[in-house]
Amino acid sequence: MDNLLTKIVALTKRRGFISPGSEIYGGLANSWDFGPLGVELKNNIKNLWWERFIHKRDDVVGLDSTIIMNSKVWEASGHVKGFIDILAECKDCHNRFRMIDELQNKNKCPQCKGQLIEPRQFNIMFKTNLGPVDGDIVYLRPETAQGMFVDFKNIIDTTCQTLPFGIAQVGKAFRNEITPGNFIFRLREFEMMEIEYFVREKDWKKYFEYWRKEILDWIKEIGIDVKKIHEAEIPEGERAHYSKRTIDFEYEFPFGQKELYGLAYRTDFDLKKHEEVSGKNLKYKDSETGEEFWPHVIEPTWGVERSVLAVLCESYHEDKERVVLRLKPRLAPFKAAVFPLLANKPKLVELARKIYENLRQEIFVAWDDRGNIGKRYYSQDEIGTPWTVTIDFESLKNDDVTVRWRDSMAQIRVDIEKLPETLKKLLNNEIEFNKAGRLIKVSLK
Ligand code: GAP
Repeated sequence: MDNLLTKIVALTKRRGFISPGSEIYGGLANSWDFGPLGVELKNNIKNLWWERFIHKRDDVVGLDSTIIMNSKVWEASGHVKGFIDILAECKDCHNRFRMIDELQNKNKCPQCKGQLIEPRQFNIMFKTNLGPVDGDIVYLRPETAQGMFVDFKNIIDTTCQTLPFGIAQVGKAFRNEITPGNFIFRLREFEMMEIEYFVREKDWKKYFEYWRKEILDWIKEIGIDVKKIHEAEIPEGERAHYSKRTIDFEYEFPFGQKELYGLAYRTDFDLKKHEEVSGKNLKYKDSETGEEFWPHVIEPTWGVERSVLAVLCESYHEDKERVVLRLKPRLAPFKAAVFPLLANKPKLVELARKIYENLRQEIFVAWDDRGNIGKRYYSQDEIGTPWTVTIDFESLKNDDVTVRWRDSMAQIRVDIEKLPETLKKLLNNEIEFNKAGRLIKVSLK
C-alpha cells in the first residue's frame, strides 16, 4: 500500500499536479505546491463543495473572513490556552511523536522501543507581529470557524436566515504541526471547507445525525468508496476543548486508517465566549417569541488536501498497458482532450483546432498533437481526462469525430455539431457509453 503512495507522489510530480514547495532552494520540509493540474483538481473539489452546500441550499450562506484576526478572537475561543499538542521525543533515536494519535498514550518509542523524554506541550498556532516595529502579536488562523462566529451578528442582520441555518467558509489554515508528513496528509499550511450550522439546543442530536449523513453523501459524490470509511467516536479527553461530541471520518490511506473529515457538536461555547470577551450581544432573537439565546452549533469540516489525497488514492489504477486516474469527471482537471489524428496534415489540424477553440468556450479542454495517437490517449488517461476527441479523415467527409471514454476505452462517433452538447450531457451524467460503444441515457438508480 505504501507503494501506492510512492506511485501517486511520482505521478503527481511528473504530470504537474503536486511538487515540493521551494524546490529550487532544496525545498521546505512538508510544503507542497499545486501545479497546473493540481490546482484544477483542488478547485474542482472546492467548487463542487460550494455548489452543493451553498448554492443548492437555502439555509447556508458563504463567508470569506481574514486569516489574521484580532488576537482577542483566539483568547476568547480558547485557542491561546488550549490549542496544544503534546510532543514526546525518544531519548535514543530522537524521533518525535504526537502523544494522542501516534503514541496513544504509550510510554515507549514506537520505532526503537527506547525511552521517551518527559512529554512537552506546544501551542501549535503560528505567531507573528502586526506592523514593522514590535507590533502586536497576532496569529495565523488554525481554523476558519472563528471568522464565522465573529461575523455571526453581521450575517443575521444582513440575510433573512432563521434557525436552523449555516455559515460556510473555504480557506487557508495554519498549524505548527509537530509531525507533518505523509505527503499532503499533515501539512502546516492547508485549506479547510467548514460549516457552522446554528440550531436550537434541543435539536442538536437531530442535526448532528443529519450532517453525519451529508458527509457520507459527499464522500460518495467525490468517488470515495464508503467501505473504506470508518467513523471513530472521539472519547472525552481527546476531543477539542470546545466539543461535546466529535466523530472523525477515517479513510484507509496507504499509510493507515486516518482522519479524513470531522463532525463536532460545539454547543454554544464560541458565541457565548465571544459575547463575554467582546461585550457585544451575539444572541439570536426569535422573531415570533422575542426570545433571545445563543444558538448551538454543529460543525462538519472537510480538509481540502486530504480530499485531494483520498481522491487520488481511490482513482489510481494500473492495467497491463496504462496508468489511469479514474477521477469523477466533475473533478478531472481537463474534461476532454482534442487530437488531430496526424499533426502533419493541415486540413485535419485546421478542423481539430476549430473544434478545440469552440469547445473551450464551454468546458476546460486540452490540445495534444504530439507523438502517436496511442501515446496521447495514455497520456490523458494518466491525468484522468474523461473523454478524448479525435479528428480523422472521416471527420473531413462526414462532419463527425471519435469520442473515447477513458475507463472502458470504448469509442463512438459524434456529429461535430452535437459535440459540445454531448460532452456536457456526459459530464452531467445524463448519458453514458454502454459496453458496445453506444450513447445511452443514464438509468436512474
Ligand atoms: N474547526 C474544526 C477543526 O479545525 P480539525 O479536525 O482540527 O477541526 C478539520 O480540522 C479538518 O482539517 C480535518 O478533518 C482534516 O481534514 C483537515 N486537517 C486538519 N489538520 C490538518 C493538517 N495539519 N494538514 C492537512 N489537513 C488538516
